[in-house]
Amino acid sequence: MRRISSIFLPMAICSVLAMPVRITAQVKAQQPAASSTKSRPSAIAPAQSLPEQAKMKTFIDALMKKMTLDEKIGQLNLLVGGEATTGSVVSTGVEDKIRKGQVGGIFSVTSPQRIRKVQELAINNSRLKIPIIFGLDVIHGYRTAFPIPLALAASWDMELIERSARMAAQEASADGLNWTFSPMVDISRDPRWGRIAESSGEDPFLGSAIAKAMVKGYQGDDLSKNNTLMACVKHFALYGASEAGRDYHSVDMSRIKMYNDYFPPYKAAVDAGVGSVMSSFNDVEGIPATGNKWLLTDVLRKQWGFKGLVVSDYTSVNEMIDHGLGDLQAVSALSLKAGLDMDMVGEGFLTTLRKSLQEGKVTQPEIDNACRRILEAKYKLGLFDDPYRYCDENRAKTEIFTDANRKIARETATRTFVLLKNLNNTLPLQRKGTIALVGPLANSKENMVGTWAVSADPSKATSLLDGLKQVAGSNVNILYARGANVTEDSALEARTSIFGKLMERDNRNADTLIAEALKAAAGADVIVAAMGELAEMTGEASSRSDLNLPRSQKKLLDALIATGKPVVMVLFTGRPLSIVEEDAKLPAILNVWFGGSEAGPAIADVLFGDQNPSGKITATFPRNVGQIPIYYSYRSTGRPLQGDNFQKFRSNYLDVSNTPLYPFGYGLSYTTFNYGDINLSSAKMKGNKQLTATITVTNSGKVAGEEVVQLYIRDKVASNTRPLKELKGFQKILLQPGESKQVSFTVSTEELKFYNHELKHIWEAGEFEIMIGGNSRDTKSETVWWDK
Ligand code: NOJ
Repeated sequence: MRRISSIFLPMAICSVLAMPVRITAQVKAQQPAASSTKSRPSAIAPAQSLPEQAKMKTFIDALMKKMTLDEKIGQLNLLVGGEATTGSVVSTGVEDKIRKGQVGGIFSVTSPQRIRKVQELAINNSRLKIPIIFGLDVIHGYRTAFPIPLALAASWDMELIERSARMAAQEASADGLNWTFSPMVDISRDPRWGRIAESSGEDPFLGSAIAKAMVKGYQGDDLSKNNTLMACVKHFALYGASEAGRDYHSVDMSRIKMYNDYFPPYKAAVDAGVGSVMSSFNDVEGIPATGNKWLLTDVLRKQWGFKGLVVSDYTSVNEMIDHGLGDLQAVSALSLKAGLDMDMVGEGFLTTLRKSLQEGKVTQPEIDNACRRILEAKYKLGLFDDPYRYCDENRAKTEIFTDANRKIARETATRTFVLLKNLNNTLPLQRKGTIALVGPLANSKENMVGTWAVSADPSKATSLLDGLKQVAGSNVNILYARGANVTEDSALEARTSIFGKLMERDNRNADTLIAEALKAAAGADVIVAAMGELAEMTGEASSRSDLNLPRSQKKLLDALIATGKPVVMVLFTGRPLSIVEEDAKLPAILNVWFGGSEAGPAIADVLFGDQNPSGKITATFPRNVGQIPIYYSYRSTGRPLQGDNFQKFRSNYLDVSNTPLYPFGYGLSYTTFNYGDINLSSAKMKGNKQLTATITVTNSGKVAGEEVVQLYIRDKVASNTRPLKELKGFQKILLQPGESKQVSFTVSTEELKFYNHELKHIWEAGEFEIMIGGNSRDTKSETVWWDK
């Protein structure tokens, strides 16, 4: 391995890996299952049957009997072979190591031709011809980029999310891959953390449903099919709770909080049959996750019954040296003993385990177990039957970045946008007159794909300007001016103009740029301002301490507002921003996140009302950074604030309200919804019976629209302090204008359970409040007594 100074590798490391192959053909893809509006939990991938397990065991026993110690250790080695890396080291001498049987897996090599060549190195040269597993970060789509995960979550549509994962698997497997480092299910309640963009947000219940949907989408019902990928749930565990939102920082939290709030999505992925788990960079209770036996063995394997393989994050074994846990040999041994099977890029296992075994610091069964789990993954993927089963050049030519896939990406994106404000029906835009499109993100296609879209070609995405032109029709005149740079801080802009997401700075002075925008605005009926962050202002190592719109953009907005014309802000962001001032001043705000390859036309579809926005935020938008961490499911203090006004000796701030700018679950529509009262099947319950809570929701506006109806529960008296409300159900329904639907939720004692101070998963008899509404703040409520 070699240290590098840049995070981008211009060339691959060795000749075979460097073969330049570009996929250009775009013919029809297989159609994934159609989407529907109703959210329902995904089916769970079937486990192997007993005879299948026995067959696999016989095969692997026989293989392992033939393996030398070095060959076994070689299987535990995962190297990076391709274009992008996420650390300061890269793998070297990869071809040679493959020939010697020192490599179990490679990631970041793509295309069937290249993967076939690498696989041939292993099959034709290594003694036992053990196939290599090929991974990649397929996070939100593959070549066809879908909206970032935080946006997908905002759809609250599990079938849509499953379909996006299915399509990503279809494309990635057509390009030779069989393993994805996704889903990322880290709960995050801190929008300073850049990787909140890759997460589902703050809620464990919703996060668990999404984790399941993604695993199902990637893995399908049979891992050995050549169009499925093995999923890898990450980052185990608690990575989203890094102190102060600073990436890679320490994590410290109570076990009660881990079990109730942070663990559920990882467990949901395990229950759904995820094939692999990635350990996280952070420490947990003072021990880095990668070497944390309590996490990797006691919780993951013993309590949850996980049987698959555990891989480290990028050099996270080696990074335990900087955590202060010893030298490479010590931290490698610690990791293996903790339950880690595969070492990503760091080669600590490869270079030290033999010595550790000789010195009695690790045992042969520990090495054997890790090796077995990796061989089992390869077996389940069908690689022992045919190591080239994912290397079908024809599929690569016909199934990637097709018109059909792009159409699905566009439709998906429209369902993730969140209408944050819409005074006097400013939106949708009329299909006539003149629109001034201004703002630093209006004409950027590169930034549309969002962070961590390693396989998408950002230059093939469609900008908002082009999307608007495509969709507007001939009666609309569109004027464009940039108006401002993303930020006045050119160094920050340069730091985040990476991974092909270029943003060329306009070096004219700010006033000239604004004057140009005002000229466009002067001739317009309405102004659409494309504001926000660059894509790489979120993502890995992109934490921010200031969540306001940068000053350059605020100045531009003020100048536009001063024209007296309606200004619609289209907000590009990978995290909740604190846009209090903009919310106060603007009539309409549409949050579009980073919508993927087809963001431009998708935004236009929604701006013109061809699609009605139905997204709801899944991470609370704070009023300012000082409120962070901020989330809806907080616990009552002993001195709760009563009402909204400041009270001395109560839990509140002197200078800001306790309430967020936009609460969890919030999002508007071009129509309005009325909620009736909750009807409970019984006000008194006993034992393991099921309660039904029903509410009538009416579309009281003039257009059809979808509403996410959310069920929250509060356990009013318990032996532990409990959250004021917790999401326990949701349904996304479509209503025609004037139409009413009865929405029913069933509540069982499962939904009442929590981990108590002894970490027992229990429910306690007493009073529960049942709340239903269109967001976590505005709910109707009823009370039920539930006895044992
Ligand atoms: C580091 C990231 O934390 C992880 O999410 C990713 O899968 C690996 N790098 C591999 O690229």
